Amino acid sequence: MMEKADITTTGTVNLIKNPILGKVLFPSSEIQTRISELGKIITEDYTGKDLLLISVLRGGVIFLTDLIKQIDLELSIDFMSISSYPESKSIHTSGVVKITKDLEEPIEDKNILIIEDIIDSGLTISYLLRNLKLRNPNSLEVCTLLDRNVKRIAELNIKYTGFAIGQEYVVGYGLDYKQKFRNLDSIYRLNTAVIKKEFEVMDVSKDSMA
Ligand code: PRP
Repeated sequence: MMEKADITTTGTVNLIKNPILGKVLFPSSEIQTRISELGKIITEDYTGKDLLLISVLRGGVIFLTDLIKQIDLELSIDFMSISSYPESKSIHTSGVVKITKDLEEPIEDKNILIIEDIIDSGLTISYLLRNLKLRNPNSLEVCTLLDRNVKRIAELNIKYTGFAIGQEYVVGYGLDYKQKFRNLDSIYRLNTAVIKKEFEVMDVSKDSMA
C-alpha cells in the first residue's frame, strides 16, 4: 500500500507525520482531476455569459484558486466572510450567521457561482443564498468541493459537486482542524482515536468539525 508521504506531492512531508491525520480520502491528483472536469462543465455552462465566482472565507479559497484556472472564460472573483452570532454556539447548529465581510461590488443582473469547500448541514449556504437572492442576480448557483449530506438540514439544490462524502471528518485542501492543516494538498480523514479524548474533555459537538 502507498505510504501517505508518497501520495502528497508538495512540501508537506513533515505535516503529514502528525498523528491527528488518518488515511488520505482524496489524493491531490484526484482533486485536481475532478477540478479540471468541473472547470470544463462550468466553462460550457457559462459560455457567452459574464460570471462572478464568490468564495466564502476561509476554507473555500484553496478550491477557488485552483478552479478558476480551469475555467476558460473572462470571469471575476469576490469574497465574503461570515460568522455565527455570539449567542449561537455554532453556525452548524443554529444557522444564525452574520456577514463580517461583504462583497466589493453589487451583483444585480450578474451570474453568480458560490464556491464552498464543504456543505454539511447546509445552513451556511442556505443563509447566503437567501441573502444574495435579495440583491437580484441574473442567476445564482452553488459549487462545492465536498458534499456531506448525511446531516443536511436545509433543502438545497447544489449544481456542481466535486465529491460526496459520508460521516467522516476531513482536513486538508482548505479544510481545517482548529485552523490548521488547510495547506495540505490532499484531503485526509481525521484520526478520531487521537482526538476523541480531546472532544470528550471539551464536550463539544463533532458537528463543529467541518
Ligand atoms: C465550513 C464551510 C462552510 C460551512 C458548511 O466553514 O466552509 O462555510 O462550514 O457548514 P454547514 O453546511 O453546516 O453550514 P467553517 O465554519 O468551518 O469556516 P472556514 O471556512 O473558515 O473553515
